[in-house]
Amino acid sequence: MSTVTSAELDLSADGTLLHRGSPDSAWWRSAVIYQIYPRSWADASGDGVGDLPGITAHLPYLRNLGVDAVWLSPFYTSPQADAGYDVADYRDIDPLFGALDDAKTLVSQAHSLGIRVIVDLVPNHSSDEHEWFKAALAAAPGSPERDLYMFREGKGDDGSQPPNNWQSVFGGPAWTRVTEADGTPGQWYLHLFDPKQPDFNWENPAVRAEFESVLRFWLDLGVDGFRVDVAHGLIKEAGLPDWTGAMNMLDLTDLDKQHPPMWDQDGVHEIYRGWRKILDSYNTTGDAANDRAMCAEAWVDPPERAALFVRDDEFHQAFNFDFLQTPWRATDLREVIASSYAANDKVGAPTTWVLSNHDVVRHASRLGLPIGTPRPNGIGADDAQPDAVAGLRRARAATTLMLALPGGAYLYQGEELGLPDHTTMPDAVRQDPTFARTHGKELGRDGCRVPLPWSKDEPAFGFNRTGNAWLPQPTVYGDLAVDQQEGVAGSTLELYRELLRIRKERDLGEGALSVLDEGADVLAARVETRAGTTQVLVNFGAEPVEIPSGATVLVASEPDVDTTLPTDTAVWFTV
Ligand code: NOJ
Repeated sequence: MSTVTSAELDLSADGTLLHRGSPDSAWWRSAVIYQIYPRSWADASGDGVGDLPGITAHLPYLRNLGVDAVWLSPFYTSPQADAGYDVADYRDIDPLFGALDDAKTLVSQAHSLGIRVIVDLVPNHSSDEHEWFKAALAAAPGSPERDLYMFREGKGDDGSQPPNNWQSVFGGPAWTRVTEADGTPGQWYLHLFDPKQPDFNWENPAVRAEFESVLRFWLDLGVDGFRVDVAHGLIKEAGLPDWTGAMNMLDLTDLDKQHPPMWDQDGVHEIYRGWRKILDSYNTTGDAANDRAMCAEAWVDPPERAALFVRDDEFHQAFNFDFLQTPWRATDLREVIASSYAANDKVGAPTTWVLSNHDVVRHASRLGLPIGTPRPNGIGADDAQPDAVAGLRRARAATTLMLALPGGAYLYQGEELGLPDHTTMPDAVRQDPTFARTHGKELGRDGCRVPLPWSKDEPAFGFNRTGNAWLPQPTVYGDLAVDQQEGVAGSTLELYRELLRIRKERDLGEGALSVLDEGADVLAARVETRAGTTQVLVNFGAEPVEIPSGATVLVASEPDVDTTLPTDTAVWFTV
């Protein structure tokens, strides 16, 4: 086997400067934010669903991991038709997760450990069990109650056809017909997701006022910011024209033909400018450490449109889903890193990086699929199974690359353990509404939402004391449990701790980044910070790559790295 030598790699070249570094050191420009999916992190009550007291009890684990903040997926009162993204009361906690006092305790404990808390805000739709929607159903067509949501008359003489042809993201039509008080078939309401998630009418000032009040409620309780769900969906094109393009949040390939009338309408920006003023008003000292921040979940293409959400009077950050969707190839990753910085730097916003979340197949599984496989919506027992060894190896290398990149980074619970998806989950236990609404065509997101393994030999791998779990855990989770990795050299958990420690020590989140053009097999980058220069090298090729002589290795994604970098491995070093 031949080795690519450092003489062939010109790591001393200037490279191409892609990013000049942060204009200031506000925490949200470089924070590493850990996503907790409350249903699946830690279950103090033992009912099989995680809860707030469980989270609070395990916060020291996050301090030891070295993250700056947590983002909690929804814990509000909810019938859980979409795992909490169907909110019935925006100002209260679902009894499944605890009570408001538990939220207060969580926030104050996190703060005392130096961890900020970001909560999920779901403004596009509520639950159909929200008081407003119940009142809208009880009220007459044309009433102020109905105007809080998107009610329309149906088409055809008897109104029996939906108002337009929109499909819902979870499958099936985006409209449901209601029965009026007199028992006759009546109007239709819009739901871009499940029928149990009616869309709000954001043209109505009462909706705007309500959400401004909800923001204040959580800011008053002490949270540090918001992750905003479906931030690109609130305003719909006037007249609700038919749309024949793909109806999901990810496939925007028909943009050339027509801008999707339900996504990325210019009117959303005015709403966020109002929210930004509210957040800013909570920083009464002017010290950036007191900034409250918001991050947009906006599936928007091209990156220049996405960057509009992070202009300096709107969101602080937006998720960078392009990076998450990029195939494991040096050239593609180099390109997406360059385009991400180009778009965000133009508006002075930090770029964020993310590889996994509760909506996508975990990267340890995704990267184990043949390179270039389109991202699946779930993997099932009948599908070709990912290569677990290659997947984990690439996942560790991908994270090592990601955490070197200046900007913010999001980690999804359990990726620090190298967890794969549950890829052989029985269909009978699936709960994602996508599965039922597409009649099993889309498996959905349950595979990445499985309860976390804390200790190998306890019931439910230590998720609780009873052994209940709302989704089954695969047996492989036992060997990956926290207690199997803590303090074990070379474990994925210790790799993450090391990466986060060095990232902080060397200020990588705030640095300037140059990439060197080293062809298809190698991604080489240099991050300059006050702490010096850190080199990053990732080997995608089959042949090992020589690490320059004189280099001091800071951390590598595999334990066997010394003078050469094997395939699918990443390293940080100084020279
Ligand atoms: C995006 C969330 O991340 C996802 O989990 C949810 O199903 C949809 N928005 C609808 O709220």
